[in-house]
Amino acid sequence: MSSHSWFSRALLPWYAEHRRPLPWRSTSDPYRIWLSEVILQQTRVDQGMAYWHRFVERYPSVAQLAKASEDQVLRLWQGLGYYSRARNLLAAARQVALDHGGRFPADHAALRNLKGVGDYTASAIASICFGLPEPVVDGNVYRVLSRVFGIGTPIDSTEGRKEFRALAAQLIDPKHPGDHNQAVMELGATVCTPKKPACDRCPVANRCIALRTQRIAELPVKAGKTKTRTRHFNYLRIETGKGIYLRKRTAKDIWQGLWEMPLIETEKAAGPKTMQRLIGELDASATKRASNRGKKDNCTWTIRLSSAPVKHVLSHQLIHARFWEATPPPGFVPQKDWKLVPWRRLDAHALPRLVEKALAGRG
Ligand code: ADE
Repeated sequence: MSSHSWFSRALLPWYAEHRRPLPWRSTSDPYRIWLSEVILQQTRVDQGMAYWHRFVERYPSVAQLAKASEDQVLRLWQGLGYYSRARNLLAAARQVALDHGGRFPADHAALRNLKGVGDYTASAIASICFGLPEPVVDGNVYRVLSRVFGIGTPIDSTEGRKEFRALAAQLIDPKHPGDHNQAVMELGATVCTPKKPACDRCPVANRCIALRTQRIAELPVKAGKTKTRTRHFNYLRIETGKGIYLRKRTAKDIWQGLWEMPLIETEKAAGPKTMQRLIGELDASATKRASNRGKKDNCTWTIRLSSAPVKHVLSHQLIHARFWEATPPPGFVPQKDWKLVPWRRLDAHALPRLVEKALAGRG
């Protein structure tokens, strides 16, 4: 082992005593571990646990998950966000079922070839399930290592990623790679937290350079925040006696595969006049009917803002949403991809949280 063996020697006993009794820690089934790692990339342990249970109950094996439909998986994932992860989950399950006979490969490179499995997840599965000495580097690991070793290289730079990965590879205990990796992550999650770390409970506090030099608050260093894109979404609530119109988002954009109300996206916040014009353009057939008959008034849409604007924050986007109650003119023909969903069927559709909240209490 390297000259850094003190690190693992201090961490492993601490982990054995203090680790949280999480359900995926009492198994080495790669399917269950993979699920937990993918879910935990998206949310915290307390929320993630419920999702993990739901997935393993509904799909007890990777072969069963492989047979699910994308709509079913998105519905189960609903609320976690970053829905490409859910689509990748299904794609990877199908790869394991078809290309690997239903067994996860015990090999970092082969794991890495599974859809949505990056270096982090491949290393987690390889070390935890197969005892391979592959170092994991996630946000927790960056924080622990930058503080303990006093490293100020930005963690979001190519140089930083290389440096931290190399250090993590030096530190890993080849006899206990799974526990070692989980111990570092666990320390970051429960002791070496971003704010107010509990240094008095830390097993490596006596070697921590940040603690000694009072740089805890400065480490880890991030070079630059990625820019946030601001968007304005105008949703049309078109309700009939039978239900509400929804459409599936199919474009390569946020929420691909999820359902929402018909949407008009604008550059700026739109008022009623702009909305009236845009709905007219969208529903050109209604406008044409109106001008043909010269009776524009009773052939146009009636719209009314149905609630205060809502701000919805995603990791790299800020969505300003407005919900418009929209009543179509008589004889209106819905767009091809609009579906009239009865309220009692709403629950079968995966909805972005923004839309779910707007429709709460219905369905
Ligand atoms: N966060 C994500 N995966 C983890 C793991 N396996 N152990 C501790 N914290 C984690």
